[in-house]
Parts: sequence; C-alpha cells; structure tokens
Amino acid sequence: MTECGQHIYLVCGSGGVGKTTTSASFGLKQAMAGKKVIVLTIDPARRLATALGLEKLSDTPKKIDISKQYKGPGELYAMMLDTKRTFDRLVDKYASSTEARNRIFHNSIYQHLSKMLAGTQEYMAMERLYEVAKSQEYDVLIVDTPPMQNAIEFLRAPVKMMDMINNSMLHLLLKPTMSLGKSGFRLLERGSEQVLKIFDRITGFAFMQDLSEMLIAFKDLLAGFETRAGEVDDLLKNKTSEFIFVTTTSEHAWDELRKFYNQLKERDYKLGRVIVNRVYDGDVFSPAKLKVLHTKLKKEVGAHTANSLVDNYKKFLPLIKEDRKQIKSFEELVSKDKVTTIPLFYGDVCDVKGLYKMSCAL
Ligand SMILES: Nc1ncnc2c1ncn2[C@@H]1O[C@H](COP(=O)(O)OP(=O)(O)OP(=O)(O)O)[C@@H](O)[C@H]1O
Ligand SMILES: [Mg+2]
Repeated sequence: MTECGQHIYLVCGSGGVGKTTTSASFGLKQAMAGKKVIVLTIDPARRLATALGLEKLSDTPKKIDISKQYKGPGELYAMMLDTKRTFDRLVDKYASSTEARNRIFHNSIYQHLSKMLAGTQEYMAMERLYEVAKSQEYDVLIVDTPPMQNAIEFLRAPVKMMDMINNSMLHLLLKPTMSLGKSGFRLLERGSEQVLKIFDRITGFAFMQDLSEMLIAFKDLLAGFETRAGEVDDLLKNKTSEFIFVTTTSEHAWDELRKFYNQLKERDYKLGRVIVNRVYDGDVFSPAKLKVLHTKLKKEVGAHTANSLVDNYKKFLPLIKEDRKQIKSFEELVSKDKVTTIPLFYGDVCDVKGLYKMSCAL
C-alpha cells in the first residue's frame, strides 16, 4: 500500500507526555521539508485544534496555515477523528445496499452498538489510518494516539476489537451465517424467528425486530473487520511505517519504553525514534568553571543578578543531571541515534509559532 513512498508515523506514549504537540510539530517539520502531511488526532481534549488555531477540527482534513513559518510546496493538514462518524462511514462503505445502509442507521441497536464501538478509540484510529493511507493522498501520515495509561494498549487495538466481536452475542448469532454463506443466512433468518418469538415475550417486540433487522443488515460489515485488522497490521509492518515513542524522564519511563520496545519487536513493528519531552536542558559546569562564570557575570550584570542566576542554576543542576542520566539509559536501551530530546519550554505550546519552536528540536 505504501509503494509510492508514503510514510506512516504512529506517535505513542503515556497520558500527557506531549503526543499531540509532538505529532503536530513533527508534521510541521515534515511539511517544511516539502511534503504533503496529515496529522490524525483523536485527542478528545482537542489540544491540537487549539494549537493549530482551529476552533474545531473536523472529521475531514483541514489545511493549516503555516505561511508565516514557511514558504514552499509542503502542506500541513490536520484531522480530528470522530469515532462515531468513522463507524458510520464504515457502514456506508460495507453495507450491501442503500436500503441496508438506511436500515442500519435507523436501527436503535446499531445506534447503541456504534456508540459502544466508538468507545474503542484506538481501533477507530486504526480504521481511519487505513482509509487515509489507502487514499494515497499524502506523503506523510502522522497518527496521534489517544490518551491512555499505557502505550501498549494501542498496539493491541485490532486484537481487542476482534476479541470483542468474537465474544459478543452478535458473533454467536452471525457466525454460522458467515461460514455458510447466503443459504446459511436464510436459515438463520428462519431459525431466528423461533428464538425471536421467545425473546419477544420477554423483551417486547420492537427490540427483537430491531435486533433481527440489524443482524441481517450488519453481516457484511462484521465480516470485514477481521480482514481489515489484518490489513492494518500489514500496513504497520511495512518498512515505511514506524512508531515514535514520546516520553518524559519520569520514574517509570524507562520500564515503559522497555516494554513498548519489546512489544514492537514481538510484532515486527519498527521503533523509529524515542522523543524525550520536557527535558531540563542545560550545561553541567564543574564548580571551578561555575566560579569563573560567576565572576564574569558579576562584571556584566552586577553582583545581585549574578548571585540569583548562579543560585537558580544550582537548583536546576540536579534536575539537569537526573535527566541526562535517564536519557543515557534510554540510549543504551534503543541506541543513541534513535533518541531525540525536546526541552521544557516556558508556558504551553499552543500555537503554530510554538510548534515551530518545538519542531526545531526534532
Ligand atoms: N516541551 C514542552 N514544554 C512545555 N509544554 C509542553 C511541552 N510539550 C508539551 N507541552 C504542553 O503539555 C500539555 C500536554 O501536551 P499534549 O496535549 O501534547 O500531551 P498528550 O500526550 O497528547 O496528552 P494526552 O495523553 O492527554 O492526549 C500541553 O498543554 C502542551 O502544550
Ligand atoms: Mg493528546
């Protein structure tokens, strides 16, 4: 699917580490290299939307104005994933006829089910990624993954989705028809009438009518899930796809990275790079060197300011040292050339200017 050199980057990491801002900054960087880039986000906090100066990112790609930062052929698009709409689009695509499609949309069980499935955001991100990748419209696709406690959850999304379908009542009802084809399906329709009658007595007619209608209309769609889960997996295994792990230097970061790295290897996915965000950046001066600098500063800005600056530096020094140690341990784990650091900026990164500043570190 990515023969034309289309690159896919999946930006993963724990909650709040900076995935959304990193995705957008990385997108900007790629656009400034002349590429046509799209950033897919499903961040419910809509932070990327604010960062890009858009009131509301829609489910269709929106072009971002980067003309103040860059003049050239590259383009940056962003899209907010609306999980319910993604699901509706799937129905649109896979329903066997317009009539079947309309029946699904107006079905109360579908409405309930689609909301339930929409809750599996990670899976929907995969579905949307698949759709956009297949369109071959962009040179670079960057997927910002949903907030979650553990980055590994994202990798398990297709499997989780399949488990949910396999273990649900829907699957039990549909399974024989899927394997028997059309004639089997007719059998089910007839067979279910008996079951439905029993259920009717308990649950009321409308519910069961809705259920049987939905089962009939929904079979094409569910049959497609398994195939697509496999195709998404192939897409992620492609040599032009890579994972970007965003992290901070927090206490459990190294363990998380190790687990994530191992999971990627097990699944034959590639770890492109590790981005260490909000790093206390600075030089580590020896006491002797600091003394020299202090003297120099006193001459330049006066004793009072020089003393404050040196005191401040001494407070930050342990943090800088601690971050360096952590970064070194990341480098030892995944190799030095894969690790990039982004400093902790003063204030939020909340506009294209901020993203540009961040992109310079990438
Ligand atoms: N290097 C940085 N310096 C200062 N602020 C930063 C930096 N990186 C990110 N931020 C800020 O931290 C906040 C969280 O960032 P972001 O929304 O990108 O995290 P996230 O990993 O996407 O969160 P979630 O898991 O909730 O989706 C934002 O307000 C962002 O502006
Ligand atoms: Mg986010």
